[in-house]
Amino acid sequence: MKIRKAVIPAAGFGTRFLPVTKSQPKEMIPVVDKPVIQYVVEEAVNSGITDILLIIGRGKRAIEEYFDRSWELEKALEEKGKIEQLNQLRAITNLANIHFVWQKELNGLGHAITHARTFVGNEPFAVLLGDTLLESDNEPVTMQLIKQYNKKKRSIVALENVPPELVHRYGIIDGIEEGEGLFKAKNFIEKPRAEEAPSTMAVASRYVFTPSIFDMLDNTPVGLNGEIQLTDAMRMLLLQEEIYGFCFEGTRYDIGNKLNFIKTNLIYGLKNQEIGPELKKWLENFLGK
Ligand code: UTP
Repeated sequence: MKIRKAVIPAAGFGTRFLPVTKSQPKEMIPVVDKPVIQYVVEEAVNSGITDILLIIGRGKRAIEEYFDRSWELEKALEEKGKIEQLNQLRAITNLANIHFVWQKELNGLGHAITHARTFVGNEPFAVLLGDTLLESDNEPVTMQLIKQYNKKKRSIVALENVPPELVHRYGIIDGIEEGEGLFKAKNFIEKPRAEEAPSTMAVASRYVFTPSIFDMLDNTPVGLNGEIQLTDAMRMLLLQEEIYGFCFEGTRYDIGNKLNFIKTNLIYGLKNQEIGPELKKWLENFLGK
């Protein structure tokens, strides 16, 4: 079955980026001139996804408004002859069929995904975390995962090799390498200590799941940090179905923390045609001092 649905959880508190996230969704934080959530939606669309469910919550209304049409603004731009900006705005609302659901209590990523059951039905689907940008030279990372899914017809997660001192921040796979970047999972461990980690391959914010994940999530007890952990549901799914991991081609930018947000903006700013050359000159001069 062709994968055409994606779920983007974007309801989290964003505590690593307080105080700005007190009233501003972290998914709306800009990378140059676009909010990070737009890059995520574009990755899904460029991977063949036609229907997207955004999981939002209190304080996340700006995300809904961003993907809605702004008639007054469009009219004003039209009257002023600002056609390029007008087309840019219209393109945002026409990206895909975008649906919203509210996660009323923030009980973790696994809990967020349970809200997608009715939307997804009995189809395989993609999950893209709304605060993380994945850049690749050739194919979007979600498309890379979908291609692997099409070979195996089993759930598959994006994998990134992280430095050993950072494994405690991620879900880590214990797997058997099958070649060409593919791993067959034996286990997943959420945020292990470096000395306990079975590998340094971290689950990296993109997934394709068979619909069986929903039954697992329904039976997943509250875990680490009092949250329903997606990793725990994946471990349960492993008892019934194989799960694979795939080392994607590309780079991950998690803008959910301050340092990465600044770094990502510099990287994307330097690559931007309009501001890149001037930013480079200014940076060289600034650092030279
Ligand atoms: P994170 O753990 O990075 O998000 O979850 P967070 O909880 O917002 O951030 P911190 O740790 O407090 O700074 C990854 C993704 O899952 C979503 C988040 O919005 C983010 O995109 N999420 C997390 C939910 O949708 N609901 C939740 O209950 C938790």
